[in-house]
Amino acid sequence: MVNVAILGFGVVGSGVAEVLAKNGPHIDKKVNNLIRLKYILDVRDFPDSPFADKFVKDFSVIEQDPEVHIVVETIGGARAARDFTERALRAGKSVVTSNKELVAAHGYDLLQLAEANGVSYLFEASVGGGIPIIRPMNQCLAANEITTISGILNGTTNYILTRMIKAGLSFDAALKEAQANGYAEQDPTADVEGHDACRKICILSSLAFGRHVYPDQVPTEGITGVTLADVAYADSCGKKIKLLGRSMLRPDGRVCAYVAPHLVDGENPLSGVEDVFNAITVQGDAIGDVMFYGRGAGKLPTASAVVADVIDAAKHMKSRKYLGWGPGGPEVTQSPDGLESAWYVRAEGTPDQAREILGAGSFLGRAGAPEGEVAFLTPSMTRAALDAALAAGGLRPLSAFRVLD
Ligand code: HSE
Repeated sequence: MVNVAILGFGVVGSGVAEVLAKNGPHIDKKVNNLIRLKYILDVRDFPDSPFADKFVKDFSVIEQDPEVHIVVETIGGARAARDFTERALRAGKSVVTSNKELVAAHGYDLLQLAEANGVSYLFEASVGGGIPIIRPMNQCLAANEITTISGILNGTTNYILTRMIKAGLSFDAALKEAQANGYAEQDPTADVEGHDACRKICILSSLAFGRHVYPDQVPTEGITGVTLADVAYADSCGKKIKLLGRSMLRPDGRVCAYVAPHLVDGENPLSGVEDVFNAITVQGDAIGDVMFYGRGAGKLPTASAVVADVIDAAKHMKSRKYLGWGPGGPEVTQSPDGLESAWYVRAEGTPDQAREILGAGSFLGRAGAPEGEVAFLTPSMTRAALDAALAAGGLRPLSAFRVLD
């Protein structure tokens, strides 16, 4: 018998309890053992829950119970979750989590601690919700040197952008829908300001490139600056606006990662990824391009990935296989400032002012554009070159997003 304790009975934790209960016999067969939910830790009371008899409020009950083999951490945040994770690992229990904030901030240390204690620390659900991405990258693509990762990594913002594009909804109305569907973080600032996508690209970068990449090494811009005017201009040139997390191995061996809205061409499969769906394209030297696609947030898709890790941990209680990467440091990354790309710009100014910097670029139009607004696509250049050209032309930028090549 393998006993499981869930920490935090929110959207994901309750989904994990539900999946374990609903698919119990099928899961037991896969593991060739009985997996049983023994405790749920939460500070709140749930007297009407079908799991009411499993609730505890004191983590030490779980920590000190030698019959608990696997702890599922779905509390979120990096404080209590970190303390409980460290204590569980030290107590010889494997930990499974959906907590991208914790893995992005402390993944290296927690993986080291897990290895030192002969247990697993698994986090498939931390990136891409229900999409299998961590295990495929770690195992199935192991033969490749990975060069680039580009992903729609946040379901809430992709949902908001899709609703703005397809239904003309305002940003606030679309965000309310995403919250009602259980996609958004407790504080949706983490979604809309890009921090959630940043944490996820940190995890993927660490896994792909072998050194811990920390969130403060990844310049991050969210979608709060994206307007319906930008959506219309993008549409006029056959492109969609998508919030992308990107990470590249540069020729000097350093990692360049960032999060920002991009214009993605209609022919690129990422442009067709809508609603809560996430997609991640990975470029490897042997495989070329491979794309992972599925539901990136929500109770059951995320629970599906957590329970897959529970099954993996249960199967490997005796013969462990470790996931891991090397330590981080300032030398691991470089800024995206040196990256050249074409840019979409919407600015206050006239076409004449813009013509100077356009070179081989092109103007864009939209119905109802106010007097004094100009929008265009530039030739390939760095951000510094763009800013200098805009200043030289006397244009005041309102939006400036990279165009994905
Ligand atoms: N708030 C996150 C998202 C949840 O919208 O993608 C899944 O990590």
